[in-house]
Amino acid sequence: MSDPLIIEPPRPNPLRDPRDRRLPRVPEPCALVVFGITGDLARKKLLPAVYDLHSRGLLPTDFVLVGFARRDWSDGDFEDMAREAARTGARTPWREELWSRLAGNIRFVPGSFDDDNAFDELSRVLDEMRDSHGIKGNAAFYLSIPPSAFPVVLKQLQRTGMADNGKSGGWRRVVVEKPFGTDLESSRELNDLVDDVFTAEDVFRIDHYLGKETVQNILALRFANQLFEPVWNSHYVDSVQITMAEDVGIGSRAGFYDQTGAARDVLQNHVLQLLALVGMEEPVEFTPDAIRTEKIKVLRAITLPADLGSYAIRGQYTQGWLAGERVLGYRQEKDVPEPSQTETYAAVTLDIETRRWAGVPFYLRTGKRLPRRVTEISILFKKAPHLPFSKTDTEELGHNQLVIRVQPDEGVTLKFGSKVPGSQMEVRDVAMDFLYGETFTEASPEAYERLLLDVLLGDAMLFPLNEEVEASWDVIDPLEEHWSGQAPYRYRAGEWGPGEAEQMLARDGRVWRRP
Ligand code: BG6
Repeated sequence: MSDPLIIEPPRPNPLRDPRDRRLPRVPEPCALVVFGITGDLARKKLLPAVYDLHSRGLLPTDFVLVGFARRDWSDGDFEDMAREAARTGARTPWREELWSRLAGNIRFVPGSFDDDNAFDELSRVLDEMRDSHGIKGNAAFYLSIPPSAFPVVLKQLQRTGMADNGKSGGWRRVVVEKPFGTDLESSRELNDLVDDVFTAEDVFRIDHYLGKETVQNILALRFANQLFEPVWNSHYVDSVQITMAEDVGIGSRAGFYDQTGAARDVLQNHVLQLLALVGMEEPVEFTPDAIRTEKIKVLRAITLPADLGSYAIRGQYTQGWLAGERVLGYRQEKDVPEPSQTETYAAVTLDIETRRWAGVPFYLRTGKRLPRRVTEISILFKKAPHLPFSKTDTEELGHNQLVIRVQPDEGVTLKFGSKVPGSQMEVRDVAMDFLYGETFTEASPEAYERLLLDVLLGDAMLFPLNEEVEASWDVIDPLEEHWSGQAPYRYRAGEWGPGEAEQMLARDGRVWRRP
C-alpha cells in the first residue's frame, strides 16, 4: 500500500531510454553504516542529508541507518541524537511523521574500532537485517573518522567478511572522506590498504565540492554551449583565478587543522578539482570514466613555477576584526600550539602545459578569516587587440570576464564593455548576471545529499579517482617541501591574505579580483 507521507518513486517505464537521467533514481534497499556518527560531519551534514533524501522520496522504503561509535547508547539514544541533528540541519521542511518512518529503521552498535566483538555484532546486525528489513545484503560503510583510524576499521571490515560482496549477497561499498593521506606516499599507502579490502569500483572518495550544483554546472556551461569553447584557450584567455575564501576560523578543529594547513585541507582537493573542471578537454561521453580521464590529464599537465619563493605564498592569520567583531589570531585559537607554523592561507601560481593553456597563469588562493565566504572562478579574457575609439572613450573599459560563482550568490556573471547612454561614445564595463535563485524555482540539493545518494546508487561520476588524488599530491608535495621550516607570512583576520600574495600578482602586472 502506498504511504501518503512519502513521495512515491516513479515507476520504471519500459519504453524509457535507460540513459535518460531526468527522472529521479532511487537506490536499491540498503543499509548506510556510519563510523564516527557522533562527529561534526555526521551531525552537521550526513544526518540532515539522510533526512532530506528521505523527505524527497529518494531513499528506498527498505533503508536502514546504522551508527557505530564508542558510546554507551541504545538504539533509542542514537535515534534521539540523530533526530536532533537532522532537524537542526535539514534543508527540506521538518515533518515529524516523516522522521518517525525513518526512525523505525535506525540501529546503533556501540564499540571502539579495535573491539572485535563490536564488529562481529555489526556483522550480525547486517545479516539479520538482510531478512528482517529486506536490505538484501547491500551496505555502504561511511568512514567519517580520522585517517589514522582507517587501517583498523578497514581490517575489521575485512576480518568479519563485511567488505565482501560475494559473501554478503549484495553490494558493499566504502566511502572515504578527504584528505586522502597527507602526501603522495601516505595517500598511496592508504589506497593500497583500501584496495586490499574493497574492489576499486566500490570505493567512493568524497570531495564534497564535486557535489555542489554550481561545480557540476561548469561541465554544462563548457560542453553544452557553443558560445564558450572557441574562446576557452590561451588565444583569448589572459589568466584564471580560483578563490576559495572563508570568513570562519578553525573553530574546534585545531587538532586536525594544525596537522593539515590550508594547502592540504583545500588546495589539494577542492581547488585543484575546480581547476581540473575548468581546464579539461571535452570528455568523449558523459560517463564517470570519460570525465575522470580528462581531469587526470589536466592535473598531470600542471607545472609549478621555478621561483616558488615568489609564486607560492602562505600565510597565517593574526587577531583582527571581522563583521564588526574582534576575532582571535590562529595561534590563540583553542588547542593550537603557540609556535605553530601551520598556514591558514595559501596562494600559488600554476601553469598547465597543454596546447590549450600554455602561457595562461592559473592563480589559486584559499584562506580562513578572510573578509567573506566566497568561492569563485574568474576567467579573465585578453583585451581586444585594437580599439577603434579614442583613448578617453575606453578609459573605463577593463578586461572581459566570466565569473563562475560557486557560492554564495550561486550563478554566473559575464562582464563586457557597453556604451554609456548619451551623445558621446563612452564605453564602460557592465555585467550580465545569471542567478540560480532567480532562474530556478527548485532549491539546489546540498552537496552531501547528492553524494550520499550517488554512493547508494553506485554512481561514481562525482567521485575523484585515486589517480586524480595522486596527481594532486604531485602538485602539493613540492609546495609543502618548499614551505617546510619557513614561517608563514602574517595577515590580519579580516584582510585578503598577506601582502606577498598581492605582490605575486603585481609582479605579473595583475591584481586579485575583489569578490
Ligand atoms: C572542508 C574543509 O573540506 O571544506 C574545511 O576541511 C572547509 O576546512 C570546508 O571549511 C568548506 O566547505 P564549504 O562547502 O563550506 O565551502
